[in-house]
Amino acid sequence: MIRRKNILKIAIDSPAAAGAGTLAKAISKHYNLFYLDTGKIYRFIAYLKIKFPKKFNNKFIKSKIKSLKMKDLTNKYLVTDEVGIEASVISKIKSIRKMVHTFQINFAYNPPKKYKGSCLDGRDITYKIVPDADFKFYVTANLNTRALRRYKELKEYKKNISYKEVLKSIKKRDKSDLNRKISPLKKTKDSLLINTTNLNKRACFLKIKKIIDRKININGNL
Ligand code: C5P
Repeated sequence: MIRRKNILKIAIDSPAAAGAGTLAKAISKHYNLFYLDTGKIYRFIAYLKIKFPKKFNNKFIKSKIKSLKMKDLTNKYLVTDEVGIEASVISKIKSIRKMVHTFQINFAYNPPKKYKGSCLDGRDITYKIVPDADFKFYVTANLNTRALRRYKELKEYKKNISYKEVLKSIKKRDKSDLNRKISPLKKTKDSLLINTTNLNKRACFLKIKKIIDRKININGNL
């Protein structure tokens, strides 16, 4: 596998709806980094399971990942809670994680030349996918804040969804993501904790930007 040298790599892990995606997007845009929301790949596989239950096996998944285009990840259905819950189920399967990991590692270490580096967010990015990232963040927020943010987001797609329902499904996913045996969500010692509970999008962005700029100024060459 090709690994580009001297690129800036940012790794972010976070529980569901903590604001990591929004933050990662803003950071990627600012520093011209190739951005991947890794949860979308697990969501894509969950979608395949829902849509093609009979064909759903490793060979099928492998072929779909091989031909995966970034635009496949923009399918609106992937955002739904139904898919999210299924994603947290299939993401426990070792063989599936292995296939997804290869895709992610390639993405992280070999971004297209027009980008200065890569930024990935997920659950196991800081310790499994990009353990040598230049910056590692663990983005979180309290449960109610996350549930409320998610509720507002989902309301745009599904009018009759309730806050209680969203809260319940976030709790369920937290439990599964934190306690599973392979690649559980955790904060590594070398990740900086960013609590977004009382911060708006702009404040989160500025906080991280300050941290990155300080190091880039010291090292100059990043
Ligand atoms: O980030 P998002 O909430 O879209 O992720 C959906 C699900 O995919 C998570 O609940 C988690 O189970 C799984 N996931 C994972 N590893 C990642 C990213 C997501 O297991 N790196």
